Amino acid sequence: MKVAVAAESEVGEPRVAATPETIRKMIGLGAEIAIEPGAGIKSGILDTDYAAAGAAIATEATHGADIVLKVRRPQATELSRLKKGAIVIAIMDPYGNEPALRAMAAAGVTAFAMELLPRITRAQTMDVLSSQANLAGYRAVIDAAAEYARALPMMMTAAGTVPAAKVFVMGAGVAGLQAIATARRLGAVVTATDVRPAAKEQVESLGAKFVAVEDEEFKAAETAAGYAKEMSKEYQAKQAALVAEHIKKQDIVITTALIPGRPAPRLVSNAMVASMRPGSVIVDLAVERGGNVEGVAADKVVEVGGVKIVGYRNVPGRLAATASSMYAKNLFAFLEILIDKKTKALAVNWDDDIVKATVLTRDGAIVHPNFQPKSAA
Ligand code: NAI
Repeated sequence: MKVAVAAESEVGEPRVAATPETIRKMIGLGAEIAIEPGAGIKSGILDTDYAAAGAAIATEATHGADIVLKVRRPQATELSRLKKGAIVIAIMDPYGNEPALRAMAAAGVTAFAMELLPRITRAQTMDVLSSQANLAGYRAVIDAAAEYARALPMMMTAAGTVPAAKVFVMGAGVAGLQAIATARRLGAVVTATDVRPAAKEQVESLGAKFVAVEDEEFKAAETAAGYAKEMSKEYQAKQAALVAEHIKKQDIVITTALIPGRPAPRLVSNAMVASMRPGSVIVDLAVERGGNVEGVAADKVVEVGGVKIVGYRNVPGRLAATASSMYAKNLFAFLEILIDKKTKALAVNWDDDIVKATVLTRDGAIVHPNFQPKSAA
């Protein structure tokens, strides 16, 4: 069983899909590991570290591999090097990228999309969305604090009293909850909003105040999978009115709101930005999905009337070493269910709920129900 770890080809992707620790564990499962040169360098892992863990360092690592571990979906040139039937495991970003899915099917690879994992207890150790969003939430507060020209905690000194900064977190999922915890640790006064009723208790348990329109629609807003639904126009209008009143009193706003498979909801308008005091900072973690904030620009800090709007993409990559170590552990946990521990050979159970939910392409076709051509639906 040959497992390859690819160096990420996309500019701006510093993460890597394996660490020396997971390499050792994969060898324990019976794998032979090859890794492309320099794959871990941006996460602080040298080729010599991988070699010491037992991996071969090879430019052609992925050629002929049975399993290829990646952070991002393979590009055309990478696909051309893979053998038919090779398993590729990565964050595939499948929504809106059907041509790329067709290319993977045409290349004959079996592609698994880690972000489609069901959120069941057994899959928690594999949950890349959670591990990476948690880091993004932390880093968003660090980035906001760095852009903010004032201190976050209240300080009572001989030179006077500095008030605590007011931080508002919009979207209290994994990233938002970590942002709340981080901002609290830095001494800010934190409020948060979400459209899922389950979020209220979680926000309050972290010592933040919950601010939301809690009507009948809110009470039914959570899907069986635990995600938010797209809210009605009427709800969005009520939410906007509430946010408009609240936001003008805030120093820092962190937005994290997402709806799976849909563009990010627009939560902060130009008028709301204009209502904030100069020197305030907004960090939009949803920028890759269109942004929660009007005027956000990818990988830029935009200044509008003295308010800074921060729109970094790939925020987990801004903590590459930690992000890679967590991502690699998630991938190892996933790999474990594809391998028979006794025979130490690949043994995919295609009826396993985790396998069924994540497999995108197989035997030359797109097999995932969410990505079938419209005419076939
Ligand atoms: P996400 O990344 O899809 O969305 C982030 C947050 O934005 C969510 O809390 C969502 O409700 C919120 N949101 C969407 N539209 C909004 C709007 N218009 N206004 C305000 N907020 C809005 O969600 P994430 O972070 O992946 O987590 C979703 C849920 O799944 C959370 O409750 C989380 O705790 C839970 N979860 C469960 C796991 C399990 O294994 N059981 C593992 C990980 C998360």
